[in-house]
Amino acid sequence: MSSKNIHPIGVFDSGYGGLSVLKEFIRLMPEYDYYYLGDNARAPYGPRSFETVYQYTLEAVKALFDLGCHLVILACNTASAKALRSIQQKDLPKIDPSRRVLGVIRPSVEAIGGYTISGSIGVLGTKGTVVSNSYPLEVKKLYPELDVIQEACPMWVPLVENNEHNKAGADFFVQENINSLMKKSENIDTVILACTHYPLLENKIKKYLPDNIRLISQGSIVAKSLKDYLHRHPEMDKKCTKSSVYKFFTTDSPKIFKEQGKIFCDKIDNVVHIIL
Ligand code: DGL
Repeated sequence: MSSKNIHPIGVFDSGYGGLSVLKEFIRLMPEYDYYYLGDNARAPYGPRSFETVYQYTLEAVKALFDLGCHLVILACNTASAKALRSIQQKDLPKIDPSRRVLGVIRPSVEAIGGYTISGSIGVLGTKGTVVSNSYPLEVKKLYPELDVIQEACPMWVPLVENNEHNKAGADFFVQENINSLMKKSENIDTVILACTHYPLLENKIKKYLPDNIRLISQGSIVAKSLKDYLHRHPEMDKKCTKSSVYKFFTTDSPKIFKEQGKIFCDKIDNVVHIIL
């Protein structure tokens, strides 16, 4: 199939984190074509303002549309929290009302209600995600009886982006944030990794989290939700081509992306530089 006729599902993240979501998409639906875009040159997004995250995310979405994607998944909580609504409500009607952009927060919140027994959920996210209050607000809409306790972990994305997440220095920051979260409530029985970079730190997080706490990663939740979405929207499903083409775009070095991205997803081969 020539690249002109290909309409992949676009997957976007500030850097490598969204690869943890893409991996689950490929595991569940390998037949679709996927274009992944990592804005590695400008990561992390977590500490950036609403306006900046919105502007960067919109540029990425437009680039994926130009590359032929009709459906784009923001596989980034920070972008989902700060940019998704504006893009859906303000930009899509002008760009092309038939295209769709979906995020990761709503499907994660829908799933999380089924996990907790105590009714207290811990959310670990970037500063941007935590300050946006997106998780408590979404949980309130779907499960008003649940309590959400948040902890911002500003050092965790830089640790992953710089490939320092398996080193001893990472323990300091992981332990500090886990202890701080657990001090905020004794009732937490479920913790969600509300940042797509964090599954890479899962072993260290488990080391410091009490054994009785259930740890949830988003990848498989979001993949199931996408499958369900495509099932409910056959008009969109028909537009998404299915020839198992997986291609990767980065705003930084393709060579480094290929080397480092492999830790997240072993399907990385074809990496191209892109300017947004
Ligand atoms: N993977 C992004 C998320 O899920 C990380 C954001 C960042 O770049 O700080 O929030």
